[in-house]
Formats: sequence, C-alpha cells, structure tokens
Amino acid sequence: MVPADAEPSGAVTAWLHWYAAMGVDCCLHDSPTAFFNDRQSSHFDLPHPGSGTRPALDDTPRPPASRPLAAEPAAGPVSLPFGHGYAPNGSSSDIIQGARSLAASCSTIDALRTALESFEGCALKRTANRLCFGDGNPAASIMLIGEAPGAEEDRQGKPFVGPSGRLLDRMLAAIGLGRETVWITNAIFWRPPGNRTPTANEIAVCQPFVERQIEIMAPEIIVFVGGIAARTLLGTREGVTRLRGRRFSYEPGDGKPAIPAMVMFHPAYLLRQPARKKESWQDLMTVSEWLEDGAMRSIH
Ligand code: URA
Repeated sequence: MVPADAEPSGAVTAWLHWYAAMGVDCCLHDSPTAFFNDRQSSHFDLPHPGSGTRPALDDTPRPPASRPLAAEPAAGPVSLPFGHGYAPNGSSSDIIQGARSLAASCSTIDALRTALESFEGCALKRTANRLCFGDGNPAASIMLIGEAPGAEEDRQGKPFVGPSGRLLDRMLAAIGLGRETVWITNAIFWRPPGNRTPTANEIAVCQPFVERQIEIMAPEIIVFVGGIAARTLLGTREGVTRLRGRRFSYEPGDGKPAIPAMVMFHPAYLLRQPARKKESWQDLMTVSEWLEDGAMRSIH
C-alpha cells in the first residue's frame, strides 16, 4: 500500500503532466478509479457496470462491492437544490424546465446572476472555479455571445479575458467599441473541463438564462461569436462558415421586436487561422454600419 503522503514517482509525475497537456486538468468522479490496478482481474479488464466489482485503489484485495457501479450516486437521478424553491428529481427535462422557470422569475440582470449563482442544474458548476456570467455595460446596445469560459475566464469569473478575449478586444476597438460599450456573455456559464466542447445537455440547461439575459437587456444588435452560440440561439444546424456575414433576426421569447443578429468566427479560430480575420473585419464593419444607421429594429 502506498502511503498517502508519498512523493509521486517520476513516471507518475510524467503521466500527470501528459494528462494536463492533453487538457485533463481535473477529476470528474468523487473518488479515483484505478482501472489498471485490479490484481483480481487476470486480464486487467475494465469493470463492467453492474458486474458488482470495483477495482482496488492499491494492492489490497477488496471484497466485492455490495452495489453495482451503475448505482453509484453520480449515475442515478440526483435531487438538486434549486434556487426559488425548485427541486427536480434529476431528469434532464425537469432540470431544463426548472432552469426556464428560474430564469423567467428574474426581471433584472443582477437577479439573473444571483439566480445562476444558486442554480445547481449544470454539472459543469462542480468542476468550474467560478460562475462566468457576463461583462461590460448591461445597458449597451450591442451584445456579444461566445461559447464557454476557458481557463482564464474561469479564474476571473469574466468572459473573454484570455487570449481569445484579447483578440476580441482589439477587434472591437477597431470599430470603436470597448467593454464599456458592449455586453459580453457566453452560451455556457461554467468552464467545461479541459475546454472540451459543451454537451447538448449543458447547452440546453444554460440556454434559458442566455435567452432571459437577451429579454432583459433588449440589445439593439446581437453578435454570435462562434458557431455554438449561433446554432443554439438561432435554432439552426448550419456551420459558422455558412452563417457568418449574414443578417439574422433573433426573436426574443417575450414578444418584443426581433433583434438583428450577426454571426462571426470565434477569435480562438482566428488565432489559429489568421487569414480568416479579413472576413471577421467585414462582419464587424457591417455591425458598425447597423449601429450607425440606427436601423437595428427594421427587420421585416
Ligand atoms: N471563448 C469563449 O467562447 N468565451 C470565453 O469567455 C472565452 C473563450
């Protein structure tokens, strides 16, 4: 048995560094599982859910677990404490419905932020450090919606403050906009571990809060930064290359007038493909013209 305070060997340290480099930077289970250390299994097989055995974490032989793995707390329905008295039994449609009711009960941006702080329906909250709600001027006429917080956003609790954010700031400055003249948020409010793509369920659980943010703020123009935000809120399956540069009409759920919307490439993509910055420049020039025209509400 390895003492709890033992220094990791060089091989273990190298292994952990490799995981970190691959983006695996946190544990998702409440307790670790040593898949390759089960001396009871002659072939080091992965355990089958429901097989009744659990790999030992050290060399000590363990009795078979009394419950199948599938009955572990993380796998079954969970009772989640929600703000505003809502406590669903854990089915994802209940959780999404709870998110809708909670978001609808908020009439200010501050109330929405507070509601999200107490909301337990998104599993990402358990691995993230901070809620990343929004940044900028809540009275701005232009709202930008990105994808999900990255590592720096997770540390600071603000969207677009890492490398992508620095490029976005420069792009906005080129058309005379800054954090004090825009509102920036994301389709997802907590960082997905290792910056992985958010799942459909994570997007669906956060969506009512994004939609309510739009309803409360009633911006004159929305800019979807990247395909995920655009597809989620415009209800399309098209890729960002086909979506960008066009004028869309976002219909708020509260019956207020449609809002003109532009889709642009995500700055993380532009950092990898700088040759595409030209198209984003064109998209931002179009947004700037919409702002100058004051014709933002004129979608027919
Ligand atoms: N990428 C996003 O989409 N949002 C952020 O806040 C940061 C990076």
